[in-house]
Amino acid sequence: MRTTVGIIGAGPAGLLLARLLHNAGIDSVVLESRDRSYVEHRQRAGILEQGTVDVLRAAGAGERMDREGLRHDGVELRFAGHRHRVDFPGLTGGRSVTVYAQTEVCKDLIALQLKEGGPLLFGAEALAVEGAESERPRVRFRHEGREEVLECAYVAGCDAFRGVTRGVFPAALSQVFERAYPYAWLGVLADVAPSHDELVYARHDRGFALLSMRSPSVSRLYLQVPAGTDAGQWSDEAVWDELERRLETGDAWRLERGPITQKSVTPMRSYVHEPMRHGRVFLAGDAAHIVPPTGAKGLNLAVGDVVTLARALTHERDTGSSELLETYSATCLRRVWQAERFSYDMTTLMHRGPDDTPFDARLQLARLERIASGRAAGTDLAEAYTGFPLDVRGISGRFRSGRGPVME
Ligand code: FAD
Ligand code: DHB
Repeated sequence: MRTTVGIIGAGPAGLLLARLLHNAGIDSVVLESRDRSYVEHRQRAGILEQGTVDVLRAAGAGERMDREGLRHDGVELRFAGHRHRVDFPGLTGGRSVTVYAQTEVCKDLIALQLKEGGPLLFGAEALAVEGAESERPRVRFRHEGREEVLECAYVAGCDAFRGVTRGVFPAALSQVFERAYPYAWLGVLADVAPSHDELVYARHDRGFALLSMRSPSVSRLYLQVPAGTDAGQWSDEAVWDELERRLETGDAWRLERGPITQKSVTPMRSYVHEPMRHGRVFLAGDAAHIVPPTGAKGLNLAVGDVVTLARALTHERDTGSSELLETYSATCLRRVWQAERFSYDMTTLMHRGPDDTPFDARLQLARLERIASGRAAGTDLAEAYTGFPLDVRGISGRFRSGRGPVME
């Protein structure tokens, strides 16, 4: 098999890259080790930055998101019995976020790819990437019991943290920056209307809690738990009791309970692999970097990477210049480190570490007070949460060459 861009992984990074390349008239093949239903139902991110919404729309993948996504103009911070609303448009000059689940983004992109795009093979596991520095890098993969080879001009490793693509980087080239956290998130999905109309991030002496949602009738809630916790240790009643304690307010607000339909634990880590390019092989999304989920940056970073990569590939096709491919890693890493910084700040602001002292707790409260009472700290949070602007020029299906005028 041959293609221009071999894409490993059909998560948001791989699927959106395939769509952007299709719009630019560049062919690709997507290899995904799992089956379609797994990819479409894996419960993960829920919050899309303004820039991500703009990109999906410009890529022609925003129709259902525009109908069903919920625009949110703020979040609530709860601490020490206070409720403070961070007003996004007011602090950022009009920006907001959209609640639209990663499962739905993936469903929309898969449907489009199967209808209009190049091959998307499920049950196709990449085994190794070879020849990164040659003109024709190759992906060896297994599909329907047979070993096959995909010959490419470029390979995009969108195969997340446990994927194979990072293995192509020589040890002498790779630098890894990471941090583990001594806690994790227990996430539940519940068939009950969200108890608040915006997300609630709660800092509590017992640990962090987050109230989010998937739709007007489905709530998504998270509890900080010790790293290594087994979700089965928590009964539904214990989850609701603990959420109630950590989300408590001094007023009449009440947490509505309902049937819990899913429960899982997510470990938390910060991780960056530098560089994100070796020869003709590029890393995008969780294959290159992980953020702890507080602040909802992971999926949005993946989108930033693939927009940058699609533009660089289009530029090289149109002008013969590999300049943007050569600066791909540095361009992405600037945005990545801003998200790492923000996710780390949000995580350490809201969670209680096992070794935290009363001094640490007081500092958290002082940082929260500053966000609540000073415009500078609130603006910093609102700008980072809604996301730094993404350049969406040239990614619409209507401007296939990637030249010419752009925003619509
Ligand atoms: P993935 O979605 O992990 O996709 C990688 C794909 O590659 C997978 O489908 C995998 O099966 C496939 N693959 C792996 N190895 C191979 C192989 N060898 N061959 C072929 N295929 C392979 N981010 C946000 O922006 N907002 C949020 O609100 C948010 N909340 C989160 C909540 C939770 C509980 C979790 C776990 C994550 C959250 N994230 C959030 C992070 C976000 O889900 C990830 O950053 C995002 O999925 C990254 O997309 P990706 O395409 O890089 O990787
Ligand atoms: C969700 C996840 C997050 O990490 C976050 O900060 C906010 C919301 C969610 O899954 O809804």
